[in-house]
Parts: sequence; C-alpha cells; structure tokens
Amino acid sequence: MRPLWFILIAVFAVFCCQLAHSQDDKFPLNHKELGKHQRALVMFNHKLHSEKFDCTRCHHGFDKFKNNKGSEGQPCDSCHKAQATPGVMSLKDAFHHECISCHKAMNKGPVMCGQCHVRK
Ligand code: HEC
Ligand code: HEC
Ligand code: HEC
Ligand code: HEC
Repeated sequence: MRPLWFILIAVFAVFCCQLAHSQDDKFPLNHKELGKHQRALVMFNHKLHSEKFDCTRCHHGFDKFKNNKGSEGQPCDSCHKAQATPGVMSLKDAFHHECISCHKAMNKGPVMCGQCHVRK
C-alpha cells in the first residue's frame, strides 16, 4: 500500500502546486464584455507587474477632483465598456493604452500584437 499512497500524494501535491502557481503568477485576460475574441487571449503575469508597480498605477478610480483613489479588486470592465462612454475609453483601448504606453515608456515588455496575443 505504501508506494501507491506515496505516488498519489506526490501527484496530488504537484497538481496543486501547479494550480496555485498559475493562479498567482499568470492568468488570461478574457473579458466577456468584448464578446468573441478575434485575437489569441493575452496571458498576464500579475505577480511580476504588481511587485514592480503601485496597485493604483493600473487599478485607478477617480474622485470628483480627479484624484486617483484606486479601484483595487474591481475589474476594468466595471467602468470601461465594449464601446466608449463619455469621458471613458472603450475596454480594448483602455488595455492597449495602459499596457503598451508603459512598455514603450520603459522600453521593456511587449509592444507588438503577436507578443501579447500569442497564438498557441
Ligand atoms: C501589451 C499587450 C498588447 C498588445 C501589444 C496588443 N494587445 Fe490587443 N489586447 C490586449 C489586452 C490585454 C486586451 C484585452 C483582452 C481581454 O481582456 O479580453 C486586448 C484586446 C484586443 C482586442 C479585442 C479582443 C479580441 O481579441 O477581439 C483586439 C481585436 C486586439 N486586442 C487587437 C490587437 C492588435 C491588432 C494589436 C497590434 C496592433 C494588439 N492588440 C496589441 C493586449 C495587447
Ligand atoms: C500593471 C498593472 C497592474 C498592477 C501594477 C496591479 N494590477 Fe491587479 N490587475 C491588473 C489587471 C489588468 C487585472 C485584471 C483585471 C480585469 O480582469 O479586468 C488585475 C486583477 C487584480 C485583482 C482581481 C483578482 C484576480 O487576481 O483575478 C486583484 C484583487 C488585484 N488585481 C489586486 C492588485 C493589487 C493588490 C496590486 C498591488 C499590489 C495590483 N493588483 C497591481 C493589473 C495590475
Ligand atoms: C472605477 C472605474 C474604473 C476602473 C475600475 C478602471 N478605470 Fe480606467 N478610467 C476610468 C475613468 C473614469 C477614466 C477617465 C479619467 C479621466 O481622464 O478623467 C479612465 C481612464 C483610463 C485610461 C486613460 C487615462 C490613462 O490613465 O492613461 C486608461 C488607459 C484606462 N483607464 C485603463 C484602465 C484599465 C486597464 C483598467 C483595469 C486595470 C481600468 N482602467 C479600470 C475609470 C475606471
Ligand atoms: C507601469 C508599467 C507597466 C504596465 C502598466 C504594464 N506592464 Fe507589462 N511589463 C512592464 C515591464 C517593466 C515589463 C518587463 C519585465 C521584465 O522583463 O522584467 C513587462 C513585461 C510584460 C510581459 C512579458 C513578460 C511576461 O509576463 O511574460 C507581458 C506579456 C506584459 N508585460 C503584459 C502586460 C499587459 C497585458 C499589461 C496590461 C494589462 C501590462 N503588461 C501592463 C511594465 C508594465
């Protein structure tokens, strides 16, 4: 019995670690708001980014004086919709602006379509 248990536990442990790992590090950005995607889904490494930058750099939310008070925990599509609304750009534009402008400014990170929308 012992070797079998050992294998089962080992397999289980590896499986769990991989799940936890992938959840912590990378997840696909796949907003239903955008309907059926034309491009391959973008894998986003949240851990890598959130260790480098302030949360409110990406998770913004503005008071009436336009101070950024943050919106941590709220998905982008709670404010940015498929179509732009007055004063708020569309969800697709919001992602492209936020992600690409920083990569360009820092001269690090992907700026080409196929580097983010990676086809498998
Ligand atoms: C820095 C990464 C990045 C780059 C570079 C980038 N995109 Fe995107 N794109 C995204 C993200 C993130 C989304 C939002 C996906 C989601 O949340 O569902 C998106 C959404 C889209 C969408 C709407 C969803 C879909 O698949 O139909 C299209 C179309 C698109 N991008 C096309 C392009 C094209 C064309 C280029 C090159 C000119 C490009 N993207 C470059 C990250 C990127
Ligand atoms: C470089 C941009 C960026 C930074 C910096 C960042 N996040 Fe995020 N975060 C995102 C994006 C993009 C999503 C996906 C949002 C969506 O689904 O609409 C996200 C999702 C989340 C979620 C949703 C739960 C999940 O994991 O699916 C939480 C909670 C979160 N971030 C917390 C934080 C905290 C706390 C920090 C600072 C320590 C932080 N974020 C820094 C971009 C960022
Ligand atoms: C609580 C609502 C809210 C959430 C959540 C939100 N935004 Fe915004 N966003 C706004 C508003 C409002 C503006 C317009 C601000 C202005 O120009 O006065 C804006 C502007 C922007 C802009 C253009 C201005 C700039 O900062 O360059 C980008 C890009 C953007 N959002 C990306 C995102 C992304 C990506 C996410 C998810 C990580 C996100 N937003 C989450 C409300 C929100
Ligand atoms: C505030 C700046 C900033 C923002 C905003 C930002 N990035 Fe990045 N990103 C970076 C930097 C810096 C690197 C390079 C990290 C390294 O090489 O150590 C990077 C690397 C990457 C990489 C390559 C590494 C990997 O994860 O495989 C991808 C893909 C990426 N970013 C996607 C995105 C997407 C998608 C968004 C928008 C949701 C985004 N980034 C928003 C700064 C940013």
